[in-house]
Order: sequence, then C-alpha cells, then structure tokens
Amino acid sequence: MNPKTNFDVRTIRKDFPNLNVHVHGKPLVYLDNAATTLKPRQVIDAISQHYREETSNVHRGVHFLSEQATKKYEKAREKIQHFLNAKESAEIIFTRGTTESINLVAQSYGRTFLKSGDEILISRMEHHSNIVPWQMLCEQVGCRLVVSPINEKGELIWDEFKKRLSAKTKLVSIVYVSNSLGTINPVGDIIDAGHHVGAKVLIDGAQAVSHTEIDVQGLNCDFFAFSGHKLFGPTGIGVLYGKRELLDKMPPYQGGGDMIATVTFEKTLYNVLPYKFEAGTPHVAGVIGLGAAVDYVQSLDRDKAEEHKEQLLAYGTQELLKIPGLRLIGTAKFKTAILAFVLPGIHPHDLGTLVDREGVAIRTGHHCTQPIMQFFNIPATSRASLSIYNTQKEIDTLVRAVKKAKTIFD
Ligand code: ALA
Repeated sequence: MNPKTNFDVRTIRKDFPNLNVHVHGKPLVYLDNAATTLKPRQVIDAISQHYREETSNVHRGVHFLSEQATKKYEKAREKIQHFLNAKESAEIIFTRGTTESINLVAQSYGRTFLKSGDEILISRMEHHSNIVPWQMLCEQVGCRLVVSPINEKGELIWDEFKKRLSAKTKLVSIVYVSNSLGTINPVGDIIDAGHHVGAKVLIDGAQAVSHTEIDVQGLNCDFFAFSGHKLFGPTGIGVLYGKRELLDKMPPYQGGGDMIATVTFEKTLYNVLPYKFEAGTPHVAGVIGLGAAVDYVQSLDRDKAEEHKEQLLAYGTQELLKIPGLRLIGTAKFKTAILAFVLPGIHPHDLGTLVDREGVAIRTGHHCTQPIMQFFNIPATSRASLSIYNTQKEIDTLVRAVKKAKTIFD
C-alpha cells in the first residue's frame, strides 16, 4: 500500500510499537496526544542508529562520525525548512521546544525592540508558555500585555480582537490550535490584521503542526514555534522559524560554543544564522529524530489523516454527549480532535485515575491554561486528544470507562 494515496489506520498502528503495551492488564488506549504523541518506529530507529553507530558532536570534528552527524543534523534543518515552506534553512533555529522558542523571541526580539508603552496582544486561550514569557518581558521593559477575550464556545471574538489592535501593538502572539479546547484560530486573518497596525506576529504552532500543513511564507507570519514531540518526534527538541530580516537584527539569546565567530576577552563576534541562536552542544539525536518524524508525516496522505480524525471527533462528541450531565468544554465551529469535558460531582483527576484502570490514557487538569479554566469557572477538565492511530473502538472504550467511573459517584 502506498500510504500517500491510501490512509489505513491498521497499517499506521503497526508503525507505533507503544500501542502494543498493556496497562493494568488492558490494551493501552492512548488518548493523550495533545500532551505528546507516540513515536513511530522510523523515529525510534533513527535515534537509536545515531546512538548505536553514529554518536558524535556536530560542527566540531573533522573525523568521519562528526562529519556524518553534521550532515544529518543540517539535512534535518532542510527537511524542516521544506516542511514549513521557509525561504531558507538559516531561518530554522533548533530549540528545546515551543516554550523555549517563545522565550527566545521575548528575550531577544522583545528586549531589543519593545519599550515602555508598547503593547503585546495575546488571547484568553493561550498556553502558559505564550503568557508568562510576555509577562516577564513586560516587567523588564515596561510594555503592556493585552488579552483578547473568547466566547462560550472557546472561539476568539474577532471584533474584540480587532478593537485591541492599535499603533501601540508591537507584537501579536497567538496560538494556532488551542491545546485545551481544540479551537483552530483564523491565523491568516490574525497575521494580516497584526501587520496592518505594524505589529510583528508570532504563531504558537505546537498543536497545529500535526493537524495541518504549514506554509510560513503563505501565512506571512514573522515567527512560528513548534515542538518535535507533538509531531511524532522526540521530546527536548523544537523549532523557531523567524524571518531572516528579523533574526539578523536580533541579539543572541544565549552565549557559548558554536554561536560565535571569534572570541577574545576584548570582544566577541557572533556567528551567522542559524548558529547565532544555537549555543552549546545541541540535541543532535533529537534533531535527527525530528527529521525522521517530518519524513514520516510527509509520507502520509495528510488530508485523509485529517478526515479520519474529524470522523473520530464527530463520533466521540456524539457518544460523550449521550452521558447524562456531561459538558464539553471547547465547542468551536472550527476545531481539531480534542474532547475536553467535565462531569458534575466528579473531579477530573478522579475520573482520569478511574479510566486509567481501564487502560485509557487521558489528561486531566488545567492543561497549562489556567485562564481558560477561570473563564469557564471550572478547576480542570478531562481531555481526550486524538491522533492518526486512534480508532472508533478506542472511543467506545473511553465512553464505557467514563460511564463506569460515573456509576461510582452516582
Ligand atoms: N501543552 C501540553 C498539553 O496540552 C503538555 O498537554
């Protein structure tokens, strides 16, 4: 079968060894994909091969292994350039993940170009990693964080968003897909509106990369951040895309090896892009694993994969809503396969523990989005987040497990 032309969930599942695991004697039903996705054997093999046969540092040795590792490391950068449709590979900076990418922009771009009186516009549905770095920047330079509200469905209120844009807005930083609600934001319109008032726009693409194709040139965003581990890649590796014209003007975020051209005690000259932002020995195996993850995703028929998840979302929504009292949190018109819910009288943590006994892995808590919980006036939700390898049968297992848990509290 050519996976490009025929998406078959049974074939896909064979790529993910973790799906064969049993939990509490039950087959694992992994529905925590927004926290991290499982890894296909292609990614595991690429990482394992690096450590088994090709261990070496990059950009530092003339020996065979170092040259080989450097080639693979830089090849992965090119793969990501094409994956995001960036103009050049030098615009792809490796970081530890979305969080570090956003902190890099806040501390390097923000501290250099923002000043007292300037505004940064975010939304109510941001992850803490797209709130706190800006609060820290505001404390440092005296700028102001402005928050755009959401409605009861968990959608951005467009008119309110536009009202908050002005000549004072220097940065707009918005999540593409909400990790707590599944909401897909109209990022094209957001970027255009931000540019209209002269602001730069950062897109937090952590959840979006595994759901939709990304074209940073088409979107015309200034920065785009994502993490490898939500794209079937390893943890501890992520990407910051930035337009060269901005990255060139930004000072380094961290100092150390590899980010320099020359060092003397009198003066240090920095390296060119992208190395200026990659101080120290990088996560070589992580980058190689991320390259393999990108290859894996690109081998799939992504439209069919999305269709599959949309069907699961529709089915899961229908079946969960049959449970008396269950309230879905996040009912946006445009949303990805995230089913977050609350049940009266049952704390999500209790529910999570009980469904775990049935082999079902979901996440419970505030999902690093406390302002969303405050908006809905709830302490936490139970969240099932779906991926390409999930099945209708697994949704049935989830629903059965939730019903069983509910009987204990009824
Ligand atoms: N941000 C990740 C989640 O949504 C960890 O679970």
